[in-house]
Amino acid sequence: MTATITGVPFAQPSYAPGAREAALRVIDSGWTTTGAECAAFEEEFAAYLGVDHVVVMSSCTQALELSLRALRLPPGAAVLTPSLTFCGAVAAIVHAGLRPVLVDVDEDSLVPDERAVAATVRRVGKVHAMVVCHLGGYPVDINRLAGAAGLSRHRIVEDAAHGPGGGINGRDSQAACFSFYATKNLPIGEGGAVATCDPELDAWLRSARLHGMTKDAWRRYLPGGSWRYDVASIGFKANLTDLQAAIGRAQLQAVDAWQQRKTLLAARYDAELGHLLRLPSRSEGHAWHLYQVRVPGRDELARELAAAGIGNSVHFIPVHQLTAFAALLGADECQACPVTDRVADELLSLPLYPSLSDGQQSAVIDAVVAGLRRS
Ligand SMILES: Cc1ncc(COP(=O)(O)O)c(C=O)c1O
Repeated sequence: MTATITGVPFAQPSYAPGAREAALRVIDSGWTTTGAECAAFEEEFAAYLGVDHVVVMSSCTQALELSLRALRLPPGAAVLTPSLTFCGAVAAIVHAGLRPVLVDVDEDSLVPDERAVAATVRRVGKVHAMVVCHLGGYPVDINRLAGAAGLSRHRIVEDAAHGPGGGINGRDSQAACFSFYATKNLPIGEGGAVATCDPELDAWLRSARLHGMTKDAWRRYLPGGSWRYDVASIGFKANLTDLQAAIGRAQLQAVDAWQQRKTLLAARYDAELGHLLRLPSRSEGHAWHLYQVRVPGRDELARELAAAGIGNSVHFIPVHQLTAFAALLGADECQACPVTDRVADELLSLPLYPSLSDGQQSAVIDAVVAGLRRS
């Protein structure tokens, strides 16, 4: 007899076998804030990505804001960003004192392509930087987009919140910002990191994430350390804790296996739903974070799935459709992304996580097929 599946959550964070012991190790050590575990996590994550430096932070949003601030652009400088992204990524541009300029997406890949970037630059004139978002794990070609924008790679900040995995490694830009939010590819609960090959950026971020102090508490309390510190430039409170970093180190060991499982799940969705729904295109090195489909009449299917106990979500409501951003951007800028407006009405994300069982996935597929038949 097969068990009936009564509900499938949209997201279910996985924790590696060593995560619990890692958390207890840190609690027992008596040092829970930024210290040796953060340093070890930074080294291990940098080696995993193949970059020179990683600076861990409290969130990807903070990582984006500080990476943008580090570019030292004039106040109000234009920064390209998709509107089809998470609101926090655009808020980071605003909080850095810069001006978001929206780039439309390509109908197939759901991310801006060279044509859209070049068209936006023609529309607004000079731009100073670009935030490139690897939506859902689509590995955007940084070099091609930078060329289309007329920017050097040192003016590109990657929003790699939907990495790591596949080809999303932060090696082609000035800074790549990762998220360790509860549902991400490397979940800790909360947290973020900047990956960079620029030693000056690494040094600045280390100080900026903790009030701009020249020495963090860990270094002040090390044997032979001193209470004395200076603040050369006023900073932020954006550090990660050792408790989080220790869990992150354990999670890092499992990321590749989790990606393999998600790749299999995505391939099955493709095989069983691809002839019924429009699927976004993929590229070599795709990291699996979201499984997105396009459905005309999305809201009805979303409601039916929810009623059947199948979790689902939408990534994302374009930021120019959100009240505060619409007011900030102004009416003209809100007209700049017709493809985004069209696709956003049809996007639906289905459950995709390593612990999704074959039976649960069958329940999702059956419910989608039944919903589509009724429509
Ligand atoms: C595309 C994108 N960018 C940035 C973020 C912000 O990440 P965090 O919650 O770590 O600040 C998210 C989080 O959902 C995201 O999806």
